[in-house]
Formats: sequence, structure tokens, C-alpha cells
Amino acid sequence: MKIVVVVGTRPNLVKFAALAKPLAVEFRIVSIDTGQHYDRGLSSQLWEEFRLPKPQYQLHVGSKTHGRQTARMLETIERILMQEKPSGVVVFGDTNSALAGALAASKIPLPIAHVEAGVRVSGGYLPEEVNRVLIDHVSSVLFCPNRNAVASLAREGIKGNVHLVGDLLYQFLRATQHVSINSLDGVEELPGKFVLLTIHRAENTDDPARLRNILDAVGSLRQPVIFPIHPRTRAIVRKENISVPHILRIVNPVPYQVMIQLQRQAEVILTDSGGVQREAYYLGRPCVVVRSGTEWPETMLSGASCIVHADKEEIMQGYHAVCAARPKQPHMISNVADRIVDALGAYFGRHRG
Ligand code: UD1
Repeated sequence: MKIVVVVGTRPNLVKFAALAKPLAVEFRIVSIDTGQHYDRGLSSQLWEEFRLPKPQYQLHVGSKTHGRQTARMLETIERILMQEKPSGVVVFGDTNSALAGALAASKIPLPIAHVEAGVRVSGGYLPEEVNRVLIDHVSSVLFCPNRNAVASLAREGIKGNVHLVGDLLYQFLRATQHVSINSLDGVEELPGKFVLLTIHRAENTDDPARLRNILDAVGSLRQPVIFPIHPRTRAIVRKENISVPHILRIVNPVPYQVMIQLQRQAEVILTDSGGVQREAYYLGRPCVVVRSGTEWPETMLSGASCIVHADKEEIMQGYHAVCAARPKQPHMISNVADRIVDALGAYFGRHRG
């Protein structure tokens, strides 16, 4: 059976990498890389690191307004799906690439499998939330990372072909090696104690005053800070001439294995990434999340993670609170990829056109 997998961003690729091997045993995979992320550190570096077979299709859409970017992908993905005639299409998470893949398939129509279905955050407009809701409502088979996600789908009337499978990120990071890191490109000697910072979300970067607040707050923590910078954030720092406190060591995006190890070694992680927030929780590391809401509330239950606004005082308070907590590594479902592949085989087998 042939399936098309649509990816285009760093988080899509990490999940695809976690699923690719068992998926290839059951299916002939045709992969489409939309090129939503095109910087080497967010795209080709990961294809190489994960040893993923080269994508059959590379769309090179690059950065545009969300509507234009999604429309470009939609048009080309539709054409590819009509040529390839797969049994179904797999998309991951909440990115514009995932939305374009799901919409294109839904119009043909082809069955859609959504990995990371049912994840919701309340309050405010977020492009990712719009994407999640739309993808879930056109999907035929839905893979939920946790019980909250299953319950959210049920509240929206989606009950059939919903599978609680766990989180691919958990399974994937458990397979990474513990290799202590002493240096990075641009950091000759990694400090024994450091804070790890990642900030990239539109809500934190598009308003320069907000980004300044976050960087100032982190700069006053009296700890060295390692800051693998997302190209989006780097561009805004440059354009707005935002001064970065000298205690922050900016480095280029690091390979996945290095990022996981940095999280293991960090005293505290400060982030606005949904992925890093979960990884910190799975690794039992203290984490301050700079956002107005979270779609991963279970990560907050132990007290070792907290959510704060982009406000200096709140960030400092959050930092001290998580430092004082005693994080524990949670026990999660660990055979996530096998569960997904089994359910996909059963579903696409039943619905073969
Ligand atoms: C996207 C996802 C977000 C995810 C993030 C991970 C959507 C709506 N959002 O956000 O959920 O957390 O990926 O990184 O899909 N840019 C570059 N080089 C790149 C990619 C982006 O310079 O390789 C810059 C450009 O200035 C671009 C901006 O980042 O305009 C935004 O990129 P975009 O693809 O819209 O989304 P992300 O912010 O990366």
C-alpha cells in the first residue's frame, strides 16, 4: 500500500523520523517536503541526521504570508496526490504544511491520518490552533498523544477512528544516547551550569517590545544562557536592532540529538516551543514556558514546569519556582510508532479504494 507523508518544518520532521522505520515496513512511503522550513539547521541537517530517504517531492515554498504559503502548498500537493493515487495521506501536528496536506487530500478525497490529533489550547487566536481544528475535522483516522486530546475531540463530536497512541516525541527521545556535551559551534566550553533558551513563536517575536522583555528577563538570571536561535527570531533581533544581553550565548539551531542532550544538562529550560516543553517534562527537567496558554497542561502538574507571560517579573518568579521543584520523569506510552502503524494498516486496509 502506498501512502503520502507531508512534512515541511522541523517539528514535522522529528515526528516523521520517529515513525519512518516501522511505517516503511508496512507501506510504500512517498514523502513531500514542502520547504516551509528551508534554513539548513531546520531542514536538510535533520533529513541527514535522521538518515531519512530523500523526499520524492520538494516544493521549496519558503516563507510567505500564511495564506499564500498554504495556498502554494495546496495547489502542488493536490497535483502530486492525483498523480500518485495513494491509499491515504499522513500529516503531523499543527503547521501550515500539515494543513495544506490535509486540505489537499480532503478535496480529492483521500483518507487522512492526523498524528497529534485533538491537541487544543484555550484563549486567543493562534495560527496553530486554527490548523489543528481544521485538520482534525477533515481527518479520517486520528492519533491522540493523551487522554485530554481524546476528550477534546469527543467534545467536538469526533469519536470514530480515534486512537490514544501516546507521544512520538517521548518514544524518540528515549532512544537518544546520553553523551555529555562540552562545546558547541561558537561556544568553546559549555558552562557547567546553564539555562537553555528557545524563543520563536509569532506571539513572542512579532512584537519587538515583547521579545526585548523576554531577553532582558533572561539576561538578569545570573546564569549563563545557551540560546539556539530560530531564524525567525534572529531576523527580528537584527531588523529591530534588539540588544541581546552578553550573558546569552547565541548559537545556530543544533542537531536534534544535541538539543536533547542540552536539555538533559541544562539547570532550567526556558521556551515557548510545544515540543521542547514536552521534552523537558519527559526528561524530568525544570521548565518555564513563556506563553499565554498551553496545549500540554499535563506538563504543568508536577510543579517543575510553569507558564508565564512575557513579563520580566513573571519570568523571574517562574524561574525560581521551577528551580525549587523536584521534577520526576513521567511514565508514558512507549510503543507509539507501532501503535500508529498497526492502526493505519488496519484502517487503510479496510478502506482500500
Ligand atoms: C512553524 C509552525 C510552528 C512551529 C515552528 C517550529 C506554522 C503556522 N507554525 O513556525 O507551529 O512551532 O514552525 O519552528 O506552521 N524562517 C526562516 N527560515 C526558515 C523558516 C522560517 O528564516 O527556514 C523565518 C522567516 O522569516 C519566516 C518566519 O521564520 O517568515 C516564520 O516562518 P513560518 O514557516 O511561517 O513559521 P515558524 O515561525 O517557523
